[in-house]
Amino acid sequence: MALKGVLNADIGKGTINRNIYGHFSEHLGRCIYEGIWVGEDSAIPNTNGIRDDVVKALKQIKIPVLRWPGGCFADEYHWKDGIGPREDRKRMINTHWGGVVENNHFGTHEFMELCRQLECEPYINGNVGSGTVQEMSEWVEYLTFEGVSPMSELRAKNGSEAPWAVTYFGVGNENWGCGGNMRPEYYADLYRRYQTYVRNYGNNKIHRIACGPNVDDYNWMEVVMREAGRYMDSITLHYYTLPKERWEDKGNATGFDESEWFSTLKKALRMDELITRHSAIMDKYDPDRRVGLIVDEWGTWYNVEPGTTPGFLYQQNTVRDALVAGLTFHIFHKHSGRVRMANIAQTVNVLQAVILTEGEKMVLTPTYHVFNMYKVHQDAVLLDLTLESGSYIYEGIEIPAVSATASRDSEGKIHISLCNLNDIEAAEASLDIRGLARETLTVEGEVLTGDAIDAHNTFELPDRVQPQPFTAFKLEGEVLSAVLPPISVTVLELSSPGRV
Ligand code: AHR
Repeated sequence: MALKGVLNADIGKGTINRNIYGHFSEHLGRCIYEGIWVGEDSAIPNTNGIRDDVVKALKQIKIPVLRWPGGCFADEYHWKDGIGPREDRKRMINTHWGGVVENNHFGTHEFMELCRQLECEPYINGNVGSGTVQEMSEWVEYLTFEGVSPMSELRAKNGSEAPWAVTYFGVGNENWGCGGNMRPEYYADLYRRYQTYVRNYGNNKIHRIACGPNVDDYNWMEVVMREAGRYMDSITLHYYTLPKERWEDKGNATGFDESEWFSTLKKALRMDELITRHSAIMDKYDPDRRVGLIVDEWGTWYNVEPGTTPGFLYQQNTVRDALVAGLTFHIFHKHSGRVRMANIAQTVNVLQAVILTEGEKMVLTPTYHVFNMYKVHQDAVLLDLTLESGSYIYEGIEIPAVSATASRDSEGKIHISLCNLNDIEAAEASLDIRGLARETLTVEGEVLTGDAIDAHNTFELPDRVQPQPFTAFKLEGEVLSAVLPPISVTVLELSSPGRV
């Protein structure tokens, strides 16, 4: 398949917010406990109870922002249970996720320590479903108030004299479902009330985030924007990719056939339609685009791995997930005027994880490698790129075969990312490069591909799916062509000291 296109390297289309490459870590299964927090006495190398290997891996991909403590867990989490001496902390039932005992050993101080080690921004999700206004208000005071107050004194007593800087604060999660089964009219009023007491103390300015819709609930977006849009800085959207229609049998993470390969990618592409339609509603109430859309839960959701606890949502991760990630980033880039943050669900050991752990062992998933290859797009200028997509047809249904995006970083380097969704056919993409001095142009590349549609990394074979140097390109005159293998994510880097 031969595809033609044009890259206008001198036409910028806005900045790609680095927070689009954000993460989400919930008290769910083995994400926080085991995956991140092992405790100070663990034999697993840790700093202040937090796994060193996981921190190192996440810093490598430049994790910009981390959402916590949920998810559904957020609306039954009472933050005061997670402060003070650990042995005295209350134990609770994690009703949503396996009914296990939550010992609250990982709380506010531990989360802020994690963000310190990761050098990332915290995004804290408050409790509207089962929490009070006072509780939410006091959490913000505890986190960010510098002067003399009951909460700042309590914080100092618990070891943190100085306040933390916290920008992103969510007022409830999925309040249309696990966060209280509310109607949008009711939530909009509650949001207005709760956010009033989410105060800005000193120089700390909170970015208030309202709970937005699930998938295609356009009425939720309409009502909440209409009634509460002026009180928020951003609103969320949740969309998960399931290979099959039924929650009882979502499809497996490995061992699937081409029909599920195809349906998964087709469904991942739906993110574009969802953002387009939700943005159109937002435009009605916020034509200047002051309010951001934050896709703070996205990714694949499969049947859990055989033999694992159903409520722990542990699944393997293959090259199919790598393509879902690549495609989804391209869609976020396209909508970067509205999409200001996104948080993959979830960082470690849950759903489309970038890291899997087993005891002291850690494995990086194909999705991790896409985050690593794509970190060059963080805060870069989105460039004007058009490329024929070709078509991938399976049983008479058609989707685009190739998806591409390009950006220019602060050093003037250009990165072009290309996903070939076809599992059999290679694609030759030829780009007419404009706005760059051809004579001094150098090109390098990296590709992530697999020897099967479900190729993945295991604790025994951790390097089966790894990025490799990519050399299947040529530059002739103004035209850069690259042969994209089937099942692949490729990133090309163009450097030109003589940029025009
Ligand atoms: O990510 C798992 C769960 O999915 C989250 O807790 C919830 O917000 C969503 O339904």
